[in-house]
Amino acid sequence: MSKFYHWFNSGGRRAKHVRRNVRAPSVPLHRPQDFAAMRSAGRLAAATLAMIAPLVRQGATTRELDATCEAFIRDHGALPAPLGYRGYPFATCMSPNEVVCHGMPNDRPLAAGDLLKIDITVELGGWHGDCCRTFAVGEIDARRRLLLEVSEAALAAGVAAVRPGGRLSAIGRAVQELVEAAGFSVVRSYCGHGIGREFHQPPQVLHHLDEDRDLTLQPGMFFTIEPMVNEGAHATRCLDDGWTVVTADGGLSAQFEHTVGVTASGVEIFTLPRPA
Ligand code: MF3
Ligand code: CO
Ligand code: CO
Repeated sequence: MSKFYHWFNSGGRRAKHVRRNVRAPSVPLHRPQDFAAMRSAGRLAAATLAMIAPLVRQGATTRELDATCEAFIRDHGALPAPLGYRGYPFATCMSPNEVVCHGMPNDRPLAAGDLLKIDITVELGGWHGDCCRTFAVGEIDARRRLLLEVSEAALAAGVAAVRPGGRLSAIGRAVQELVEAAGFSVVRSYCGHGIGREFHQPPQVLHHLDEDRDLTLQPGMFFTIEPMVNEGAHATRCLDDGWTVVTADGGLSAQFEHTVGVTASGVEIFTLPRPA
């Protein structure tokens, strides 16, 4: 996910020094053959998560899991997009428990009750597929189970809100409503992003409602939907390593992510392990 930046300022609540009416960057519209390329990249990213799933267990380390994912991605003729991206030093992001996103693999053995977000982005044939799942290590309690279920349902609600001619803000509206109804909160400081030949490009896909940053969805737009759901407050903080983002209150966070394309009739999910 990318750090949320302000595209433009149309609201009255903004600080005076911020420029107003700066145009939102334009969103690329892709061709039918680009959908085929994204299907291949997305499928490989999803297959990487499916491959690693049974290995996420007590005693495993995220450093081992990262290495296994990297080997799988390279064996399939792709590159792990995070490696070297703005200096990020690993092939994947591994974010346990209170780590919201951009967690770095390490040598701590996973313990029963841990939640682990694994976020995979591959670059295949010049196109990117980006997806994330939250895994439970061993048995987890009912509260953690609910957090997982709500964050997976939040992604589904966001995807279901996509239609050509519809509004981008419908995604944030649907996600926020579902998450807050369950008593959890949606992270605002990081968001989904346009994707395709670039890992991160316009538009920014907010997971909360903000009609000041809206646009009309058109066939050929590619982006991720990746709500980060916190059990406590939505605020985050970045550690001194410059990458690891944690909940400000130390509460748990869960995330599921898909890469999708807007079609003439609705939405296509690219990051499914096999053709739909
Ligand atoms: N995969 C993340 C996303 O969903 C981005 C990771 S950027 C990295 O956008 F540099 F940390 F890898
Ligand atoms: Co993403
Ligand atoms: Co991702």
